[in-house]
Amino acid sequence: MKKICILASGNGSNAINIIKYFQSNKNIRISIVASNNQEAKVLTKANLLKIETLYFSPEQLINGFMLEKLTSMNIDLIVLAGFMIKIPNSLISRFHNRIINIHPSLLPLHGGKGMYGINVHKSVLKSNSKYTGITIHFVNQNYDEGKIIFQAKCKIKPKTSIKDLIKQVKSLEHKFYPKIIHTLINENN
Ligand code: GRF
Repeated sequence: MKKICILASGNGSNAINIIKYFQSNKNIRISIVASNNQEAKVLTKANLLKIETLYFSPEQLINGFMLEKLTSMNIDLIVLAGFMIKIPNSLISRFHNRIINIHPSLLPLHGGKGMYGINVHKSVLKSNSKYTGITIHFVNQNYDEGKIIFQAKCKIKPKTSIKDLIKQVKSLEHKFYPKIIHTLINENN
């Protein structure tokens, strides 16, 4: 049995989509959804789907509590889905190439510190790019700089609103993130 931990800070549409994707899989399980935000909707939603949830403080991410928790649970892969805190080096080295993130642009474009949520999409529109998309990458010590695993792109129609852009990108995220996780976890056998 392969075990996945999802870390999320907000709404959790990706987290829930991933949970549903693996719901009937007998070899891969979402063992826990953990959040640094006690109010995060993702925790309630995951609970409704009978997934174990956990709230932890930012300090517990760096003081070894989370490291201990995930190690003792024998977690194989940590999936970030809208997780808003930097992952400490201790976790990165223990879970080497086993922490992944999804970013709502074609990295290295529109990535780095401060580039999250709507800021990314604003930056994309401002750049007058013809394309945007998603990037799934390993997490290293720098924001959005880990090795790229997968990218998918979509065309930006002229005069696209930010709302439409978010919708377009989110649908790419929902389409590809579970599949890439599936491939990755099977490759790591
Ligand atoms: C996604 O757009 C993802 O690319 C970014 O955070 C957002 C999370 O959205 N890392 P949701 O909470 O899964 O809806």
